[in-house]
Amino acid sequence: MFQSSFKIISFSLFLVGGCLFILGSSHASVTSEDIVNGKALYGKACLLCHGEGGEGDGPASFFIGSYSAPRPRNFTSGTFKFRSTPSGEMPTDQDLFRTITEGIPGFMPSFYRMSENERWNLVAYIKTFSMDFMNEILLPLTLKASPIAFTTKSVQRGGDLYGKFGCGKCHGENGEGGSGFSYSEDLKDSSGLSIRATDLTSPSFFKGGSSPESIARSILTGLDGTPMPSYLGTLSPGENDLWHLVHFILSLSRAPSPP
Ligand code: HEC
Ligand code: HEC
Repeated sequence: MFQSSFKIISFSLFLVGGCLFILGSSHASVTSEDIVNGKALYGKACLLCHGEGGEGDGPASFFIGSYSAPRPRNFTSGTFKFRSTPSGEMPTDQDLFRTITEGIPGFMPSFYRMSENERWNLVAYIKTFSMDFMNEILLPLTLKASPIAFTTKSVQRGGDLYGKFGCGKCHGENGEGGSGFSYSEDLKDSSGLSIRATDLTSPSFFKGGSSPESIARSILTGLDGTPMPSYLGTLSPGENDLWHLVHFILSLSRAPSPP
């Protein structure tokens, strides 16, 4: 109750007299017109799943993984999976824009056909669902291309790290995900719904993207609200071990280049 009146206040703040509002995170300034446009687009393209109030309870949401995760994201919860920011923080505008553009394989369509402007308007609108977006100053990671080559040696080192960090406990010894016999853990997401660890041998289904940088980002920042932990304390963007691990994951679906 308190939260929802908070939301209404914050939303009406945006609508006051067409002035410019600077939002608390990475993207540029947003006008009230952007928000109005974003709301109209949201009504047409997102409401069915994410719900009128952004709580992930749209009319179609009950057909999506009713007994298992994921449900459509609840934008008011302050918990986001696809971030370039450390665990527990809000995503950047770029993160939201990327998810909207690329979609989530198997769960959410990609909206790349919308104009860039429309996608930014959607970002502006979904941010009105949570006050957390206004309060936070974000420090996203910058991930450059892998500094080391994708060789057999690197893959071997990555395989050792995969064992050392216990990734296989959830993802299976050979990365085949939560459907094999090695699936020992009864995994649940933060709403108590059963969730499977990703099949790492099928990168086209990776929700956070399958480029080396995207895989590195998922490993470093974790997928909040799921059992996938953040390894930011253990690994860092500039460290070779991170990229060995990424190479190991890539080797599950493609062959490394000769050394
Ligand atoms: C067919 C249902 C469906 C539609 C339509 C849909 N979504 Fe989603 N969306 C989902 C589901 C399901 C998830 C959660 C996937 C997961 O957690 O793995 C999600 C997650 C997201 C996320 C990820 C947030 C995070 O945790 O990082 C964003 C952002 C998002 N949706 C925005 C939108 C926007 C904007 C639209 C409209 C342009 C839209 N969605 C339309 C089902 C939908
Ligand atoms: C406690 C269980 C657990 C451990 C340990 C774990 N993961 Fe995960 N991981 C998950 C779950 C569950 C998901 C899927 C979340 C989802 O679908 O929303 C996931 C997702 C991922 C993704 C993102 C895939 C995508 O869809 O974009 C990558 C990459 C990944 N894990 C790699 C690793 C690596 C590498 C390690 C070890 C360093 C590891 N995981 C350790 C449970 C785990």
